[in-house]
Amino acid sequence: MDSPGVITQAALDVDRVRQDFPILHEQVYGIDLVYLDNAATTQKPRTVIEAVTNYYSVGNANVHRAVHRLSQVATEAYEGARVKVQRLINAADSREIVWLRGVTEGINLIANGLSAQFKPGDEIVVSNMEHHSNIVPWQMLCQRTGAVLRVIPIDESGQLEMDRFEELLGPRTKLVSVVHVSNALGTVNPVKRIVDLAHERGIPVVIDGAQCVQHYPVDVQELDCEFYAISGHKMYAPTGIGALYGKADWLERLPPYQGGGDMILSVSFEGTTYNEIPFKFEAGTPHIAGAIGMGAAVDYLLSLGLENIASYEHDLLEYATEQALQIPGLQIVGTADKKSSVLSFTIDRVHPHDIGTILDQQGIAIRTGHHCAQPVMDRYQIPATARISLCFYNTRQEIDAAFAALRKVQEVFS
Ligand SMILES: Cc1ncc(COP(=O)(O)O)c(C=O)c1O
Repeated sequence: MDSPGVITQAALDVDRVRQDFPILHEQVYGIDLVYLDNAATTQKPRTVIEAVTNYYSVGNANVHRAVHRLSQVATEAYEGARVKVQRLINAADSREIVWLRGVTEGINLIANGLSAQFKPGDEIVVSNMEHHSNIVPWQMLCQRTGAVLRVIPIDESGQLEMDRFEELLGPRTKLVSVVHVSNALGTVNPVKRIVDLAHERGIPVVIDGAQCVQHYPVDVQELDCEFYAISGHKMYAPTGIGALYGKADWLERLPPYQGGGDMILSVSFEGTTYNEIPFKFEAGTPHIAGAIGMGAAVDYLLSLGLENIASYEHDLLEYATEQALQIPGLQIVGTADKKSSVLSFTIDRVHPHDIGTILDQQGIAIRTGHHCAQPVMDRYQIPATARISLCFYNTRQEIDAAFAALRKVQEVFS
């Protein structure tokens, strides 16, 4: 999907949902925690915490390796979680889901694997709103091969300049790699259109889905992209786990990323035969508990319903945006027509870090800085923004608390 689509009446019982997240009932400095930093990482529901605890309490064994019962149970849970991720993004086959540490590792895997196909002068197209994890691996590939990075500009509202994108696609373009939803601006990019335009010219497309699957339904078959990377910790699962979707024929053609146990069929000093996909990319003992936790997070998201989540979060963003517009000296950075629940902003004469520190003293967690997207900051000629990133367990009362604190910040510094 490119956009939240039609917004229906919110059907989410937020009070009940909040009961599922133990940390939301914690205090910081003796004040109830208000957690508005969900684009950095999300909190974990009890079902995810229990899935991880349960694995270590009663099911801990290595996967794929032993005939004993515990190992079989662990393998079933680990592979079952892969199927859950497959269903979440509607991949055609669970063999197309590779377990990794997260989006960063996913993009590094692709960049390493494709390296040999690049020659000097070949071009990779990324956008001006990429997270560093969708810039630096390609810059490293360029250093190794002599390929060149081309950048789709963004307009003042934070939308991709699609005309410029089309102009960038030429005979030298070998790959397009773009973010689905910007973590710094909230922009939801027209990725289906991007894939179609690239495919018309025979160019494969990588999509960074780190900020998307937890907010909107995603269908990789409908998008038809070659690769789609997702991150567990951004979608209510543990840290250190994520998944890379790749079309089976692309994964088959990519060489292994790392060598070691589990990624082989046989090894001798004369030579080694690699395992089939996806195991070819999963060298060593994987993050079994993380994968099981990610499976539980998928169940949780689907039990709430991604349409309901999108609708509820859209309402929250509108509410927060209305409040932001009433604060003198506050500028919203990123005002695209289609936005996820991210509100980035600056306040005249106040450094974003001061905003973050003052809110923290009131128990309110927001993110300040460049959000690992320094080229976005350069685009707007600012060093940093303050960012409120909302999700389905946030409430209007929490937004009120944040804006009451922001009004104080504004008064103190004006
Ligand atoms: C848009 C985007 N891409 C990539 C990443 C990196 O993801 P991971 O933490 O899974 O490596 C992030 C994390 O902030 C992100 O927001």
